[in-house]
Amino acid sequence: MTKALTGVRILDFTHVQSGPTCTQLLAWFGADVIKVERPGVGDITRGQLQDIPNVDSLYFTMLNHNKRSITLDTKNAKGKEVLTALIKSCDVLVENFGPGVLDRMGFPWEKIQSINPKMIVASVKGFGPGPYQECKVYENVAQCTGGAASTTGFRDGVPLVTGAQIGDSGTGLHLALGIVTALFQRTVTGRGQRVTAAMQDGVLNLCRVKLRDQQRLAHGPLKEYSQFGEGIAFGDATPRAGNDSGGGQPGRILKCKGWETDPNAYIYFITQAPVWEKICDVIGEPGWKTHADYAKPAARLPRLNEIFARIEQWTMTKTKFEAMDILNEFDIPCGPILSMKELAEDQSLRATGTVVEVDHPRRGKYLSVGNPIKLSDSPSDVTRSPLLGEHTDEVLRDVLGFSDHQIAEIHDSGALAAPRKEAVE
Ligand code: COA
Repeated sequence: MTKALTGVRILDFTHVQSGPTCTQLLAWFGADVIKVERPGVGDITRGQLQDIPNVDSLYFTMLNHNKRSITLDTKNAKGKEVLTALIKSCDVLVENFGPGVLDRMGFPWEKIQSINPKMIVASVKGFGPGPYQECKVYENVAQCTGGAASTTGFRDGVPLVTGAQIGDSGTGLHLALGIVTALFQRTVTGRGQRVTAAMQDGVLNLCRVKLRDQQRLAHGPLKEYSQFGEGIAFGDATPRAGNDSGGGQPGRILKCKGWETDPNAYIYFITQAPVWEKICDVIGEPGWKTHADYAKPAARLPRLNEIFARIEQWTMTKTKFEAMDILNEFDIPCGPILSMKELAEDQSLRATGTVVEVDHPRRGKYLSVGNPIKLSDSPSDVTRSPLLGEHTDEVLRDVLGFSDHQIAEIHDSGALAAPRKEAVE
């Protein structure tokens, strides 16, 4: 079976997390992704957080599956010739360099366009045009500047960053959509275009509901936030709401049996209005079904703390999985707090390929997250990440059509720098 992006060739100039997330997705959908790395060094994450000495880190391997790697010094004259040939041969260039790097390398958008007018140039930057456009940005900076941190955590605590990499991986996802959209438009226009996703913008997009609440504040307190029931006045900005859902169906994280010793013995419980009567029966409060203080959603809003405290009395008598089983029978939306250990061992995630075991020649077997997006006609098998420069000669020969003599010349120029033996080992 062919894959959705078979025939699309990506010049992958990405590093760290945001860009590699994007190109890994494209590779899973079948694109030929050629990762260009600095000779001898490579993507900096190869050497970061190494759990096994001198072996590509999990940080790198888990973000660079299904790609080929070539080393190329793009500041070397011969290296620039190779890069020009790559631009001619690829459909998309993806990069997440610091601002201005591509220009300083001698490859601004105008030049790339003149080399290959069909090329799509896709970039992740920290910020879009404006006062911070020249700034370098990492994940947590984006979380802070995109509205996530100011709305995450508890009202009386400091702003919090979340473990979900919404700045890096989130923006990589946005960029991937921009790329396939531009590829689609190219089928009509025949032209390439620039695709840019700024991390601040990506995070703000994911915090859309908090901008919603910012505007609702102008018309009164946010009644779905527990602070309303606590009688605490709202300020002029969307506050941190702890574990309140803050949406139309109030929810909370509640303790389950074993919470005293297990940091993840909790469940998220949603008091969805259509199943309120079932909730009352399950927790042993049938009187709440008709009581004026509890029967209607609006009446419950000022009493969320009391209501969830009562529900928690019930959840504390069950493990999170027992509670899930019971609540699911009544269609009451809930979800156990799953640890990474539990997710790693989850057999249904293994069966769908969302958690995969990958074999790497130097590290052995490890777990990774496979393609979370499933296409019925484009299977996503996960193959290991490349060693640094593993495919340099292969790409020079098979993609760019260089002869052995030309390849030897390029090696001699120092543009590939790392010794050939090591690169193809
Ligand atoms: N050959 C020669 N030089 C290369 C090269 C290659 N193959 N690949 C990269 N370089 C050089 C660049 O030309 C640049 O040199 P210059 O500054 O002299 O022009 C240099 O490497 C550093 O590039 P830069 O991207 O700025 O790396 P950094 O380590 O200083 O910064 C980030 C890292 C992530 C902060 C920065 O890239 C960034 O802000 N990116 C955009 C936002 C982003 O994606 N952030 C999230 C990362 S997960």
